[in-house]
Amino acid sequence: MVFGGPAFDPKKIPDLAGKVILITGANGGLGYESLLHLAPHNPAKIYLCARSQAKYDAAMKGITAAVPNAASMVKYLELDLTSLASVKSAAQTFLNENSRLDILMNNAGIMATPAALTKDGYEIQFGTNHMGHFLLTKLLLPTLQSTASATPDADVRIINLTSDGHSLAPRNAGFVPDAVRTDMQDYSTWTRYGQSKLANILFTRELARRHPDITSVAIHPGGVATNLANSFTDSHRFLSLLLVPVLKAMTAKPSVGALNQTWACVAPVQGRKVVGGGSEKEIKSGGYYVPVAKPDVGSKFANDAELARKLWEWSEEDLERQGY
Ligand SMILES: NC(=O)c1ccc[n+]([C@@H]2O[C@H](COP(=O)([O-])OP(=O)(O)OC[C@H]3O[C@@H](n4cnc5c(N)ncnc54)[C@H](OP(=O)(O)O)[C@@H]3O)[C@@H](O)[C@H]2O)c1
Repeated sequence: MVFGGPAFDPKKIPDLAGKVILITGANGGLGYESLLHLAPHNPAKIYLCARSQAKYDAAMKGITAAVPNAASMVKYLELDLTSLASVKSAAQTFLNENSRLDILMNNAGIMATPAALTKDGYEIQFGTNHMGHFLLTKLLLPTLQSTASATPDADVRIINLTSDGHSLAPRNAGFVPDAVRTDMQDYSTWTRYGQSKLANILFTRELARRHPDITSVAIHPGGVATNLANSFTDSHRFLSLLLVPVLKAMTAKPSVGALNQTWACVAPVQGRKVVGGGSEKEIKSGGYYVPVAKPDVGSKFANDAELARKLWEWSEEDLERQGY
């Protein structure tokens, strides 16, 4: 996996004056590093979503050390994606404080966790990685759209973190609507992760189709040494003793791993008069990108427009059924 190089230099990110940015899972890993890349370039505000004030406070120690004016720019937004009520409350808090949103980075995620349900009864990886972000995005879409139509040169983006692991989704269906409201313990944890990450790509494709005024992309960050694998390594101690050194040698450090999703925030947009920075590589709405700035086709299911429509409608109807 090739990182960095000439494809993108985060130091050359253009001035982000006036922009409001929201990043989920920004207290650690790739979300935190993306925030560190963006914050020095003068955005109006960045919302750091975390599950608790304590996690925000801990993250702010590193952020203020690196970006001196961060304390007035980086705001705390409490968000637990395993709870639709928490997602709704986070969106409401954000909307009470803002009339614009320029970049929504749906970054938070879990991987290879034991079989379990979210508070609202979804398979835990599908519920966290897809349903929570689907609701958050839906609630913020009117503001994203009004930001996109406010000026002719407006530049509004939704960055969805996915994975090349999306190809592990259930082989015969990709997305199994009859099962996602169970813990899916008959499926391997990697198949469940694959389903949730396929959903991130399909959601992106459908967002791009329904909302052409917004640039929506799906990003695979590459293999990066973050806390993402902890759940798996904690429950497979012996295997991990063998695997961890190999993984360490093969993975990028988080600041480098965050380059692809940071590039997606500022790259010039194909077919639009949007000034990018730090990269000449153009980005196209609905695209799936691997590190750094490289378009990729993804799996067969990731290109199934009918499946993307079906997932969107299913997600919308299921949230409506629960009063969201
Ligand atoms: N690292 C890789 O090699 C890799 C490869 C492919 C794709 N990705 C994708 O990249 C994204 C970021 O992962 P990462 O590597 O940065 O992992 P990470 O270090 O584990 O960070 C994940 C972030 O998501 C947050 N999060 C987890 N569950 C949440 C919940 N229920 N509600 C709200 N926030 C929650 C975590 O918060 P806490 O601190 O509270 O847990 C943390 O801030 C994920 O979507 C992942 O699928 C990563």
